[in-house]
Amino acid sequence: MVNCKYTSEDIQKLTTDAIVIPCFEDEKENKLIKSLNKEIQAEYERLRKNKIFTAKQGKSTTISTLNTSNTKNIILIGLGKQGKLEAKYLRRASNTAHKIAKKLRTTSYTSFLATVELNNSNKESSNNNKTNIDFITAEAIYLAAYDFKKYKSKDEEDPDNYEGPTQALIYKQTKSQDEAQLKKASIVAEATNYARDLINTSPSEVYPEFLASEALKLKSANTKVTVLDEKELKKIGANTILAVGQGSVRPPRLVIIDYNPKQKDKKETVAIVGKGITFDSGGLNIKPGAYMESMKCDMSGAAAALSTLKAVQKLNIKQRIYAVLACAENMPDGNSYRPDDVITSYSKKTIEIGNTDAEGRLVLADALTYTEKNLKPNKIIDFATLTGACVVALGYETSGLMTTNEELATELLKAGQDSDDLVWRLPLWKEYKKYMKSSIADVRNISSIRGAGAITAAIFLQHFVKETPWAHIDIAGPAFLPEAKDGKPKNATGVGVRLMLEYLSN
Ligand code: BES
Ligand code: MN
Ligand code: ZN
Repeated sequence: MVNCKYTSEDIQKLTTDAIVIPCFEDEKENKLIKSLNKEIQAEYERLRKNKIFTAKQGKSTTISTLNTSNTKNIILIGLGKQGKLEAKYLRRASNTAHKIAKKLRTTSYTSFLATVELNNSNKESSNNNKTNIDFITAEAIYLAAYDFKKYKSKDEEDPDNYEGPTQALIYKQTKSQDEAQLKKASIVAEATNYARDLINTSPSEVYPEFLASEALKLKSANTKVTVLDEKELKKIGANTILAVGQGSVRPPRLVIIDYNPKQKDKKETVAIVGKGITFDSGGLNIKPGAYMESMKCDMSGAAAALSTLKAVQKLNIKQRIYAVLACAENMPDGNSYRPDDVITSYSKKTIEIGNTDAEGRLVLADALTYTEKNLKPNKIIDFATLTGACVVALGYETSGLMTTNEELATELLKAGQDSDDLVWRLPLWKEYKKYMKSSIADVRNISSIRGAGAITAAIFLQHFVKETPWAHIDIAGPAFLPEAKDGKPKNATGVGVRLMLEYLSN
């Protein structure tokens, strides 16, 4: 695993295998390159003059020093025009630099990326002047180092079989080195990588009880973990969770984590509720093959909630925070719940099942009611890989945010920009309510129209939150990527963890 440390060593004296140099498209000269030897300077001039390297955002190249220097490689990272650099592109640059350093099989490198100026007044971000450049540079490195190797046989011949650099030095003058930022970066990234591991792991290993056992690991002096098993769920009448889970041989669980530190800065409490469908086959409304593939990711909301709490503990956040994980496996079976079933939820509202593949909203219904009724938090934020419709609306780069609470909307949109864990708002207008009506029960679990699937799913959830300020975040797109992009890995991304930690740190 990589470790980030500060250095203030002179560039000529650095002995790390590689040096990462930030470059701007419109710079007259690059001061860092100027302080290196003549050979490197000449090669840099040649690359720039012939437009082999333009320093445009996202472009990069490497110069081999051919033993003319203490370092073996100079990694040039393009950052676009001066004065225009947004925090999120610096994150991606730092991520790219780490991956290049890995390809070059370095064991250590020094990054000068944290020496650049960020533009604090751009249009895309509401406000990123609080973004700490050391934090984002290091966080991006820790995230870039992630690799899911659990099921790979060790093939020494495979050139990709390299752990990557173990040390990343971040250049910073001694007086401006802030150790706390590096520490925070490692905690946040470690929690994100933990979520990635939980999601990427085979669903034969990750089932409701497994998630509960992971949550129980968080038990400590200030953290209480409660697991409701099928008997207890039955006793309280949490019938939606039971219904969704009843087709599986692996019974459902409702997990409640209560982080309650002695010292508190804020009186307000926040509950994070996560959809934890450990595998979504669709149930009796079984998914066709191509849609079932990767449905192990359907517990990404629960993974985000659990991983956030793990970091919250380590960061010593001074606020009471709950995580509620609604865990079940959605399987077809003789004992499965069926379309046409009517279920009495924990809230006592009755639900007509139109489709067993709309199971996420069902488990969340009881989880939301449970949260509001028993935990009485001041705010509820739920994370769920809830709808394919949200992927159609917003793609893989952005989570859908649905809330009628303006304060939550503003805060979460800003936290999304500052953490590069982006959310964008979709409306929750009451005009949509009519589509979720049932002719025989209080509400139906599918909509009567084709369009606005992400919104109508949120409208369904809204029936189960009475008065607590609540935001729903549909992470179906960004949770699990078909290809690596924008500094995010292929498969599980750990979406939501950085968003929540940014939100909670403010
Ligand atoms: N888990 C899926 C949603 C999903 C789709 C997550 C793609 C990640 C990627 C959810 O349970 C589901 O099946 N939703 C249905 C709802 C429909 C039956 C109303 C969908 O989106 O098609
Ligand atoms: Mn489903
Ligand atoms: Zn699902």
